[in-house]
This record gives sequence, structure tokens and C-alpha cells, in this order.
Amino acid sequence: MTKQLTDSVTFRHGATISSRIVQPPMLTNSGKDGFVTEDTLAYYGARSQSAGMIIVEYTGSSENGWPSRSWAADREQLAIFDDKFLPGMTKLATAIKKDGNKALLQICHTGREANYRATMGKPVYAPSAMDVPFLDYKLHELSDEQIRQIIKDFGTATERAIKAGFDGVEIHGANHYLLQEFFSKWSNRRTDHWGGSLEKRMNFAKEVCAEVMRVVKQEAPKDFIVGYRISPEEIHDTVGYDWHESTQLIKALTDQFDFDYVHLSLPKYDTKPKDSDRTFGELFQPVLNGAKEIIVGDVMSEEAAKDALNYTDLVAVGRAILIDPEFGLKIKEGRGDQIVHEISPDQVKAAKLTPGLINLFSDMKMEPHLPGRESIAHLHEAGSLNAAVIHNGTKSDISDLEQGTLK
Ligand SMILES: Cc1cc2nc3c(=O)[nH]c(=O)nc-3n(C[C@H](O)[C@H](O)[C@H](O)COP(=O)(O)O)c2cc1C
Repeated sequence: MTKQLTDSVTFRHGATISSRIVQPPMLTNSGKDGFVTEDTLAYYGARSQSAGMIIVEYTGSSENGWPSRSWAADREQLAIFDDKFLPGMTKLATAIKKDGNKALLQICHTGREANYRATMGKPVYAPSAMDVPFLDYKLHELSDEQIRQIIKDFGTATERAIKAGFDGVEIHGANHYLLQEFFSKWSNRRTDHWGGSLEKRMNFAKEVCAEVMRVVKQEAPKDFIVGYRISPEEIHDTVGYDWHESTQLIKALTDQFDFDYVHLSLPKYDTKPKDSDRTFGELFQPVLNGAKEIIVGDVMSEEAAKDALNYTDLVAVGRAILIDPEFGLKIKEGRGDQIVHEISPDQVKAAKLTPGLINLFSDMKMEPHLPGRESIAHLHEAGSLNAAVIHNGTKSDISDLEQGTLK
């Protein structure tokens, strides 16, 4: 039977979501010292019917891998590396779930990308202390003891997500953050248990997944959702890895662990690698082992979302949901023609964009951009940290990082 956007979907552990549309993780730059703020709650609360499930933005699972980005001194990445974050996280999960949306939390160690941490004068850690030409700060090599602690932290973060009432967690293995840094032979130059052969470059991901799964089996409701996000390739001047290797990683992970889904981070949902005439979505299907697949990338309309279903089980809709928080609801109610496709000063308010997101998308240099951005150019605060961090002349900007196209 042909897949419909409005189908409900049941994951292998029993959780059912009411559509095939997913809101992917997107940073809101709305944390204050890592705490959920009123801006965070207003933004996510407005999206309680955006999709079948929302994956909340990358949230710091270890203190030494946080914070990554910020737009102002007190507006940075959310965190869950301490119990003190629990009350805010509980409010966040409640706000998302109030109309039936499922709430997942993306847990993340940002590794070398902790650029705001560097601005704060704190050490930034990575698998190898290499000189990265596009970073203007020094990297410190993680010790074996630190690596083992970070793995435990992923487990504790999961435990807190369960306590906060989230329906699941997504392990952030994509977009150049720590898990990807360990998998990439470009950024991982180690020769110990954590690096060297392809097998050893998989070890960090495997052990993080083992710890998260251990906690979930012990402490979560039976239908708790666990997903893994990956960028299928890391190809810049040199090759970190290609899809031949990343499908082996996903096979190794799904052979060993019963993931509910695997989420491919793509610049465009129907992207194909250079050496295949099949899309990444199609190429990963043979290694899913019962997990559902989510793909993402440039789905800006109902038509594109329908088209994406030719290649996957679930389709994630990012920027289009930033513009119209009712994207999923309107499709569910047969009102797809009423979806707002362009940002405007009125829509900024209706969509409850956080000040951090307004500042990001009113910057005419920002890519990927929102259609209609010229109308909000006057809202940009020149000289904010965003401008400094995102456009500091390096190639480490958000479009490169998040869409996996770092040159
Ligand atoms: C403002 C913004 C913030 C993002 N933050 C995250 C994040 O926290 N974690 C992540 O895995 N991807 C992040 N992404 C990538 C999105 O999840 C998604 O893959 C990307 O936007 C492509 O989808 P789209 O074309 O539908 O927007 C972010 C993207 C944007 C535009």
C-alpha cells in the first residue's frame, strides 16, 4: 500500500506516532547556562502539533562537550549533564506532549565543535589533538579515562531524559560532533582501542549505544524510543568516511542493538552518493535490521514530504516547521494548502521563534536560509555572538556543520 504522510507508525518497542512527519533536532540558542528558558518553552510549546514526534535539539550530555553555539552571552546550547537541568527538561517534555506529539531528546557531546566553550576559555576536547585549519582554538586529546566517563554520561543523560518524561532519546552521531569525530579517519588519528582500523573507529559509537541501551532496558517504559543519527558521508578535501563505511557502522549497531530508528542527516532528502544511482535513504535500508528510517533535507512543502516517502519510512521537516509550526497539523486536517512557506515579521511572532533563531535567520549571510528572509533583515542584531561565531571567516558555519557538507 502506498505510504501516506498521515499514516500512524508504530516503532518496534510499541510506541505509535500519529504521522510520518518528524520535527528534526534544531538548535534554538535559547538556553541560559544550559537551562531551558521561557523562550525555549514558547517555541516548543507552539510546535506540539508540528509532526508525529519532535526531536529536541542537541543537548549537552557531558560538561566537557558543551556549549557549542551561542548568539549572546547568556543564550546557548541546552544541557542535561546535571540533575539541576531536570525541572526545565520536565517542563519541556510536557509542553511538547500536550497535544499528543511524542517528545525525544537529542543527546550530544559536541567534541571539537564546542566553539562557545572555547570562547569561555575552557578546554575543547576531541579524539586527537590535531591542528584543524578552520578552528581558531586548540584541541585537547581525550584520555581513555575521559572517554569512558563520556560514555557513562550518555547513560546518565538518558536516565534524566526518562525521568523528565521524554518518550525517547536520539544519539547524535552526525554533523561532525564527537561520535562522528571518532568514526572519521580524518579526525581520529588514535592507535589505541578507540582508533586505527575501521573496527576500532566504531568502538566509541558501539560503547555509547551499549550504555544508552543498558539504561533504557533497566529504567525506561517498554515503548521508549531510541534512535541514532548519522551523516552518511564525511567527504571534504580528504575522506573521513564514505557510505560504504557508514553502512557498515549502522549494520554493526543495528545487529547488536534494537534501535527504533536510524536518522540520516542529509542536505537534500533524495541525495545520492557520487558512486551510486540510489539515494542514501535507499542505500541504508538493507542495514536497518527492523529499525525505521528517517531522512531529512530541504523538505519545504507537502509535495516534497510526499515525494520523500518514496525513499524512507519517516520524513523530517526542519526549516519548514520553523516557519509554520502547524505544518503537520495542517496536513493531517487536509489543509496543506494553508501551510505558510515564507517567513515574515508577523510569522516570526506567530511561529514563536526564539530571539536566537530570529537573529540567526535575519542574517543575510546565513545558510541554509528561510524563504522570505529579506523581510526580517531589520530584526538582525549586528555584532551579536552569532555573527561572530557563525561568520568568523572559518568554514565552521552552521550550514556546513549541520548539513554535513564541511569542506
Ligand atoms: C537552525 C538549525 C539548527 C540545527 N540544529 C541541529 C541540531 O541541534 N542537531 C542536529 O542533529 N541537526 C541540527 N540541524 C540540522 C537539521 O536537523 C536538519 O537536518 C537540516 O535543517 C536540514 O533539514 P531542512 O532542510 O528540513 O531544514 C539544525 C539545522 C538548523 C537550520
